[in-house]
Amino acid sequence: MNETCTILGVESSCDETSCAVVADGGRVLSNAVASQVDLHARFGGVVPEIASRAHIEAINTVLDKALGESGAAPENFSAVAVANEPGLIGSLLVGLMAAKTLAWAWDLPLIGVNHVHAHAYSPTLDAAPIEYPAVALVCSGGHTALYRCDSPTDLELLGSTIDDAAGEAFDKVASILELGYPGGPAIEKAARDGDPQAIRFPRALLKGDSLDFSFSGIKTAVLYHINGVPGATRRRKKPPLAASQDNTAARGIESFTPQQIADVAASFQASVVDVLRIKIRRAVRQTGARTIVLGGGVSANAALRDAAGELARKLRCELRLPAPQFCGDNAAMIAGLAYHQLKAGKTAGYDLAAHATIRG
Ligand code: KG4
Ligand code: ZN
Repeated sequence: MNETCTILGVESSCDETSCAVVADGGRVLSNAVASQVDLHARFGGVVPEIASRAHIEAINTVLDKALGESGAAPENFSAVAVANEPGLIGSLLVGLMAAKTLAWAWDLPLIGVNHVHAHAYSPTLDAAPIEYPAVALVCSGGHTALYRCDSPTDLELLGSTIDDAAGEAFDKVASILELGYPGGPAIEKAARDGDPQAIRFPRALLKGDSLDFSFSGIKTAVLYHINGVPGATRRRKKPPLAASQDNTAARGIESFTPQQIADVAASFQASVVDVLRIKIRRAVRQTGARTIVLGGGVSANAALRDAAGELARKLRCELRLPAPQFCGDNAAMIAGLAYHQLKAGKTAGYDLAAHATIRG
C-alpha cells in the first residue's frame, strides 16, 4: 500500500449519483453528488427506471468533478470502490460498471462496499475514528437497520424493519399531509411549529426484546387521522383511533388548518423518534456497547439527533453523528469504508455482482 492510501468511491444505489476521493479512510478530498430529487418529486418517490437513466447521464460529469476537485491523478489511487448492495438493481449496475471499467483501465483493485454498512461508518469522515464496540442505527429511505459493530468492517445485524423504512414513513406521511417530497425535511420543517404531544400516534415496539422495527402502523394512523377510519362512521359516531382526540379529524386534508397539520407532523415525528430511541437503548443494553452511531438520511433530523444525544448522556455513551453532508447518500462513505476492506484484503473480482436486498 502507498504511504497515503487514496481511494476513489462510486455510489449510485438509489437517486444520488456520487463519486468521491478519500485518503486513509477519513480525509475527504472531494465528494461530488448529483441529486435526482427534482426528477422524482412529482411522483412522490423514486421511480427506478428514471433513476437508472439519470445515473447513466450523470456519472461521467460527477466522476470528472470528483477527480478535478481532489487533484488526484489515476496513479495516486490505491483502489476503486463501489456500493454494490443493497439498492435499486438498475441504479447499482451503473455505478458498478463505471467502477469496474476504471479499476480495469487503471489496473487497480476493485472493492465492493455494502451501502448500509457505509452509512454506519459515515461519522468518521473528516472526523475522529469511531470507538468500538458500537451500536449503529442506519435510517434511510430504503433501510432501517440496527447493528452491533466491532470494527468498521465487522457488523452484526441486530434488527431491521419488517415493513416500511423510517425515511419511507416520513416520505409517505409528508405525501398524506401534502407537504412535498422528499418528506423528511418537509415534516421536520412543519413540525417546528407543531405540538409533538397533540396526537398520540402508536409506537410499534414489537414483542419483548425485539430490535426489529415497524413503521407502517404509524403511517396508517396518520392516514386515518386525516381521512377517517374506513367504515368507522357506519359503526360508531367517532373514529376509535388517535384521530378521536381531535374533533376535526376524518374530513380530509383540506379541512385541517396549518397549525393542525404542524401538530400532526410534530406528533408523527415524535412517535418515530421515540421508537428509534427505545430500540437504540435496548441494543445498547443488550450489547454493552459504549458508542452510539447514527447514519443515513434520517440522521439529519434534529429531533432524532437531540433524542440520541440525551440518550447517550443518560447511558454514558459517546454519540457519533455524521456531518450534514454525509447523512444522505454519498460516495465518500463508500471510499472511506473501502480503506478498511482493502487493509483486510477484501477485494473483488470483475465478476462482482449487484444485490438489491440487504444481506447483513
Ligand atoms: O440515506 P438516504 O439519502 O437515501 C437512502 O439510502 O434511502 O435517505 C433518504 C431518506 C428519505 O426518506 C428522506 O425523507 C429522509 O432520508 N430524510 C429525513 C431528513 N432528511 C432526509 N428524514 C427525516 N428528517 C430529515 N431531516
Ligand atoms: Zn443510503
